[in-house]
Amino acid sequence: MAHRAAAAARRRLEAPGVAVGVTEELIGAQVHAFYGRVRDDPMLGPIFEAKIDDWDAHLAKLCDFWSSVLLMTGRFKGAPMPAHARLVGVGGPHFAHWLEIWRATARETCPPLAADMFIARAEMIARSLQMGMAMARGELPPLRSAPSPQTDQDGGG
Ligand code: HEM
Repeated sequence: MAHRAAAAARRRLEAPGVAVGVTEELIGAQVHAFYGRVRDDPMLGPIFEAKIDDWDAHLAKLCDFWSSVLLMTGRFKGAPMPAHARLVGVGGPHFAHWLEIWRATARETCPPLAADMFIARAEMIARSLQMGMAMARGELPPLRSAPSPQTDQDGGG
């Protein structure tokens, strides 16, 4: 048990955010400032208001998420992919705009290196969420062509 706690503490010291000065306080500041803007945004605000009843709980969850990503605390227990795959009509332009607001907020809220890291991670995650959403919606091209009935009947190899 002590061994496991020591390993977790070591992992946290090696977490990507530590070297650039990310702290729980900074995560709280970034997340709260960002969602404050998003709620007022004409394009994104209504999407969140339709889904989120308890903003305090949502913000706490997002702080846990970023704490897990940048400080490797393992606090986040959610499942972002299905949560986003359920969002009908949300696509590339929404993600681009989400990232614009995220970048502007990070530049204003965080020291430069920490902002760079918040931005780089959000861009990677946004990309993988969009890929996952496209996959869930059947929008990605298949990796192999289905065998045509013609080929099957030929029986050849
Ligand atoms: C167009 C862009 C985005 C929109 C409109 C959006 C919207 C939402 C909404 C409405 C929820 C709540 C879903 C629910 O409770 O049913 C949610 C959850 C969440 N979002 Fe996003 N999101 C976007 C992009 C992102 C990005 C880029 C990230 C991360 C970098 C992110 C991280 C999360 C996380 C961690 C949750 C919590 C998932 C869970 O409950 O397990 N989102 N988002």
